[in-house]
Amino acid sequence: MNMTTLPLNAADRDLFRGALDQALAQLEGTLAEFGARFPDDTAPQDRYRPRRWLDYPDGANSGWTTGFWTGMLWLAHELSGQSAFRAAAHAHLASFEARLERRIQIDHHDLGFLYMPSCVAAWRIRGDAHARTVALGAADYLMRRYLPRAGIIQAWGDLDDPAQRGRMIIDCLMNLPLLHWAGSAGGDARYRDAALSHLERSRDFLVRADDSSFHTYHFDPETGAPLYGSTAQGLADDSCWARGQAWGMYGFALNHRHAPDLGLLAVAMRQADYFIAHVPPNGIAYWDLAFGPGSGEPWDSSASAIAACGLLELADHLTGDEASAERYRAAALHMLRGLVTHCAARAPASNALLLHGVYSKPHGQGVDEPSLWGDYFYLEALARVLHGANGYW
Ligand code: GLY
Repeated sequence: MNMTTLPLNAADRDLFRGALDQALAQLEGTLAEFGARFPDDTAPQDRYRPRRWLDYPDGANSGWTTGFWTGMLWLAHELSGQSAFRAAAHAHLASFEARLERRIQIDHHDLGFLYMPSCVAAWRIRGDAHARTVALGAADYLMRRYLPRAGIIQAWGDLDDPAQRGRMIIDCLMNLPLLHWAGSAGGDARYRDAALSHLERSRDFLVRADDSSFHTYHFDPETGAPLYGSTAQGLADDSCWARGQAWGMYGFALNHRHAPDLGLLAVAMRQADYFIAHVPPNGIAYWDLAFGPGSGEPWDSSASAIAACGLLELADHLTGDEASAERYRAAALHMLRGLVTHCAARAPASNALLLHGVYSKPHGQGVDEPSLWGDYFYLEALARVLHGANGYW
């Protein structure tokens, strides 16, 4: 872990250290409660319960968010040195391998979210060669979703489903580092080519002229012709879903690490400026950036947690533009202060880290609840500002 810390004033340092101590204590309690089981995606009434899927045992590894739980355990181990966190994260790896072997809910694009903070993290932190092999297998499986004529990775659904075929989503930017990593770890060169093509299409079609973003975009899968943008989790096709904008700014900045010639930093800056201009004074985004204070709509704290990490990543790349880097760091710290002050969860009322997230408002799913991804990025943001740790991407 890179341990270069951000210069913080004494008040921020105390605030964030207190928040990190509290987050680690929450994780210790939740780990004791769950053992080897995985919490659900979100926490109704602010309490996670073991996830349930079909006739699998309660708490079995399923869905798209379990990598965040394992990733939090790795991060907690790195931050605290506690062996219980490491042992629990290590114990999860077999279930990620089993999912790949038995094809358990892996026919979607979120294999980066599943396998980067679990198996790639195990390789990087512990030199676990078996975990590396599993992660290479996940990257290979993700490649099945690459549609060469459209030049994109299809997000959801069966590859023959006419409603989903040719559809990319902004969240997928965060899954591409799995392909970059696999390409540089000895995997097929096609992985990098697919990631670059998907990035170019994301840059050109997901980001609008006013710097907001579409959640999803459809292409003709046979000709590659761009068709139209739409939403699944935002307010409207032409609104800006807050978490999507956050995935975009963080995703473009992260991919700049691997593809410095695609102009991705400039796009990340445009998206960041839009997010900053639309976030309320307390730093916590409403679930769609169309809303502001007085709207009566719920916050999506996870969007601000992701955005804070994205702003810090972006700032780190702006070595020749210290003024912009400072502006983005200040915005990240402002959002993180808001999250700590208004959203930090505490036992016994909650076994999560970050209150007041939204999974999908249009579907009435996980509204005003903690989520595994909100918790993970909150912990990553605290680890970034206090310890210079930059996540498992
Ligand atoms: N990647 C799915 C979501 O953000 O809800």
